[in-house]
Amino acid sequence: MSRPVKQIHLAAHFPGVNNTTVWSDPRSGSHIDFASFAHFARTAERAKFDFLFLAEGLRLREQRGRIHDLDVVGRPDTFTVLAALAAVTERLGLAGTINSTFNEPFEVARQFASLDHLSDGRAAWNVVTSWDAFTGENFRRGGFLPEDQRYERAEQFLRTTWELFDSWRADDIIADKESGVFLADPAAGSFEHKDAHFDIRGRFTVPRSPQGRPVIFQAGDSDAGREFAASSADAIFSRHSEFDAGRAFHADVKRRLGRYGRAPEDLLVLPAASFVLGDTDADAQERAAQVRRQQVSGATAILLLEQVWNRDLQEHDPEGPLPEVDPLPGEHTIARGRASVRMYEDRLATARRWRELAERQRLTTRELIIEVTGRQTFVGSPGAVAEAINRFVQADAADGFILVPHITPSGLDEFADTVVPLLQERGVFRAEYEGATLRDHLGLRTGVDAVRQF
Ligand SMILES: Cc1cc2nc3c(=O)[nH]c(=O)nc-3n(C[C@H](O)[C@H](O)[C@H](O)COP(=O)(O)O)c2cc1C
Repeated sequence: MSRPVKQIHLAAHFPGVNNTTVWSDPRSGSHIDFASFAHFARTAERAKFDFLFLAEGLRLREQRGRIHDLDVVGRPDTFTVLAALAAVTERLGLAGTINSTFNEPFEVARQFASLDHLSDGRAAWNVVTSWDAFTGENFRRGGFLPEDQRYERAEQFLRTTWELFDSWRADDIIADKESGVFLADPAAGSFEHKDAHFDIRGRFTVPRSPQGRPVIFQAGDSDAGREFAASSADAIFSRHSEFDAGRAFHADVKRRLGRYGRAPEDLLVLPAASFVLGDTDADAQERAAQVRRQQVSGATAILLLEQVWNRDLQEHDPEGPLPEVDPLPGEHTIARGRASVRMYEDRLATARRWRELAERQRLTTRELIIEVTGRQTFVGSPGAVAEAINRFVQADAADGFILVPHITPSGLDEFADTVVPLLQERGVFRAEYEGATLRDHLGLRTGVDAVRQF
C-alpha cells in the first residue's frame, strides 16, 4: 500500500538579527515599525501559512566590545508584537520564542494564555534555553544557570506552566446573570508547585484559553534538546535544512518519541529555510549569488572570520587570502551573544578546513566566508522551488519549513504569489484554512492533555 501524500506545513520567520537579513537593500524597510510586522503577517495569512514566527535575542550582540551593527540591531518585545498582530489577522498562528532560563513560569503562562485568548486559539511558544552569563547580565540574577541545567529548568518550567494553564477548566466561568453566580468552581485557578527550580502557589489569573495550552516548539540541537522535544514539544524548529541531514534528523527525533508514549505524528519537524526565486533557474542562481554578496560584505566577512579566529583582524584585507596566523585558543572573547559561535568550537580544525577549501578553490577571504556561511535552501524558478519543497516533505527530510526571507517586510510576497499556488495545484498545501486554531492548522491532536497526563 502506498503512503498517503503528506500535506506541507509552511511558516514565516520575520527577518531576524543576523546577516541573513539584508537591511542595506533599497527595498528593505523597518524591522521595528508595526507596519512591517503587519505587512509580513498579512502576506503569510494571504498565502494560508500555518503561522508567523518571531525569534528572540535577549541581549544585543557585541563584537570586540561594540554592538554588532553590521547586522540589523534590536527588536521589539515578542508578546507585544504578537498581540498587535492578533488584531490584524484572523487565522494565522502566532509563534513567539520565549526563554525558560531568564523568565518565570507564572508570568510566561499569563502572557501565553492571554495571547491565546486575544487570537482565538492561535498562540505557540518556542521554548529556548539560552543560558549564557553575558545574556544573564541583563537580568536581575545575572548568568545564574549552569549549562548542564538548562533543559532541566526548561522541563520543570514547561510542566509548571501546564499546571497553571490546566488550573482552569473550560466551563469554570458560568457568569449566570439570573443567579448572580460567576464561577462554577470556587477553586478555579488554584495551583501549588514545588520542584528543584520553582516553589510557587496561588491562583492563576487567566481563565482557560481556546487551545488550553499553546502549541509548543523547541529549537535546540543537542542531545538533551532533542530529548526535550521528544518528551514535550509539538514541533521542532531545526537547522537541518539539507536533504540528507534533514532525513537523518527527522528519523532521529521521531525515533525518540516512543519512549514517551507518543506517535510520530505528534511531533512536526520544521527546518528553517531560505529561498531565492527567479524567472528561470539560471536567473535565480544569479540573484542568489547577488544576495550572498549583499549578506557578506567585506566588513561582515572580517567579523565572521574573527568569530573563528578569536582575535582582532580589522587590518586584514577581505579581498586577500586567509590570515597566516592561527586562531587563538581558549575562552571566546571576540563575539558575544551569538549562538552560532558554538558551531566553531574547535577553531583550529575549522581554520584548517577553511584554508584547504580556500586553496583548492582559490578563494579570497570574503569569497571563502560567502562559501562556508552560505545557507540558501531553495534557489530556482517557482516551479523548481515548489518541486524541491514537496520532494523534501514527501521523503521525510522535513514536515514543512519555516521560511526566512532576507528582505523586511516584503521578502515573502513573491513566494506567496508564485510558489504557493503551485503547491496548492499539486494538492499538497491548503487552499483555505479548515480549522480555527493553530493546533488545527498543524494537524495536531487536540487536547494534548489526552496524550500527556501529568
Ligand atoms: C533553528 C534554531 C533557532 C533558534 N532560535 C533561537 C532564538 O531565537 N533565541 C534564542 O535565545 N535561542 C535560539 N536558539 C537556541 C536554542 O534554542 C537553545 O535554546 C540553546 O542554544 C540550547 O540548545 P542546545 O544546546 O540544545 O542546542 C535557536 C536554535 C536553533 C537550532
